[in-house]
Amino acid sequence: MVTATPKKKPRFRLHPVALLNSQKLRRSFMDTYEQKSLFKYVIAIILLFLSIGSLFYTNYLVDKLEEREEREVRLYAKSLQYAINSQPGENFTVVMEVIEDAVNFYQIPAIYVDQNGFPQEKINMKFPKNSSRKEQEDIVNKSLAKMKQEHPAIPVEITGLGKGYIYYSNSFLLTQLRLYPFISLFVMLFIGYLAYLAFSSARKAEQNRVWVGLAKETAHQLGTPLSSLMAWVEYFRSEPSIDPSIAEEIEKDVIRLEMITTRFSNIGSVPTMKEEVVADVVSNFISYLEKRVSSKVKFYVSNELANGQTVLMNKNLFEWVIENICKNAVDAMAGVGEINVILQSPPLTKEIRIDISDSGKGMSKANMNKIFNPGFSTKKRGWGLGLTLAKRIIENYHSGKVFVKSSEIGKGTTFRIILNAKIIGEEELKKV
Ligand SMILES: Nc1ncnc2c1ncn2[C@@H]1O[C@H](COP(=O)(O)OP(=O)(O)O)[C@@H](O)[C@H]1O
Ligand SMILES: [Mg+2]
Repeated sequence: MVTATPKKKPRFRLHPVALLNSQKLRRSFMDTYEQKSLFKYVIAIILLFLSIGSLFYTNYLVDKLEEREEREVRLYAKSLQYAINSQPGENFTVVMEVIEDAVNFYQIPAIYVDQNGFPQEKINMKFPKNSSRKEQEDIVNKSLAKMKQEHPAIPVEITGLGKGYIYYSNSFLLTQLRLYPFISLFVMLFIGYLAYLAFSSARKAEQNRVWVGLAKETAHQLGTPLSSLMAWVEYFRSEPSIDPSIAEEIEKDVIRLEMITTRFSNIGSVPTMKEEVVADVVSNFISYLEKRVSSKVKFYVSNELANGQTVLMNKNLFEWVIENICKNAVDAMAGVGEINVILQSPPLTKEIRIDISDSGKGMSKANMNKIFNPGFSTKKRGWGLGLTLAKRIIENYHSGKVFVKSSEIGKGTTFRIILNAKIIGEEELKKV
């Protein structure tokens, strides 16, 4: 006959080897996460080097081309000088043509200004169709001003009269070439961005499948032994030779296991949403939690919401969020301290805010950005999934938000959950 009721609930401990394995697994899980972000930086650095390389190389090409264009213009200046100073009767049209051809070939816009400062010859200048003389003169003067800034003038000596000058600007090709590295950098960045988007959405979709699949499978697998356990509880209860308190203890654990199973099955399928009185859900669940943690941790709930304020939620999943955040809070305060839960709705908004503050050790700014990443944990035996799950439940299933409102090392941390008081339509639910 079994009579002794165990004073303390027996707890299962992981076998040391299993523990070692689980830690190894966690480390490799985190490693893959970090490797992925390392990969991102490697790609970014390669892109940067490629762009710098392309910039330098095009600059080199531009310099070469600039030298060549200058040579062509100088040659043109020389031939012009020769033509102006030639004796009547000399025929040099052919030479002139050849040289003009070269300048034309490179499409170098140039203007010859005579000794009196009047623009005489213009080559490779484009004027709009049907433009008047006046308009053309304006264009020439404007181009001239620009050319004077771009390159030093090339003198053309005119015997006995003084000096004329040739002004020119870069060819169209050269101007385009200068732009090229920037255009290519822009294109590269744009393609890089697109690739990043594609990869990250593929990764997210994959993560989603893993989450949902794993949760569904877990719920499914737990179902059978659970119903069998339930039958055993009934049997123990009806057996007079067994202490009824044993059946009671086992039933509590079975109920707890059932809750876990429901959570997993909810996460693995479209959860059913119901209007729930927020304050009731929170305070009932906090009382449930309070009994399960050290009595040196005090819980306080302060409700500033309107009486009976409801939110469309999946109670089971929402409680899971509260549990994850509160358990972290308990972990952060090494056994002693308090947890304050405040429920508020700022006037003129449809926001329901649930602030959960602890008097724990707080966290650094750097960690604050990482705590919602899967696998991030500062605990020896942490899996770093609690907050990832909380975020997923609040954002994907409740269209809400969860974040660290504030945290101070040595003082404590406040998490804030924001839910929508408005009714979520069927459409939004289907998206999940
Ligand atoms: N209330 C808190 N105070 C201080 N640090 C916290 C708090 N809540 C979460 N953290 C930090 O966030 C990390 C991730 O939490 P979680 O995702 O629940 O994973 P785990 O609890 O397994 O470490 C924790 O390891 C801890 O460093
Ligand atoms: Mg946790």
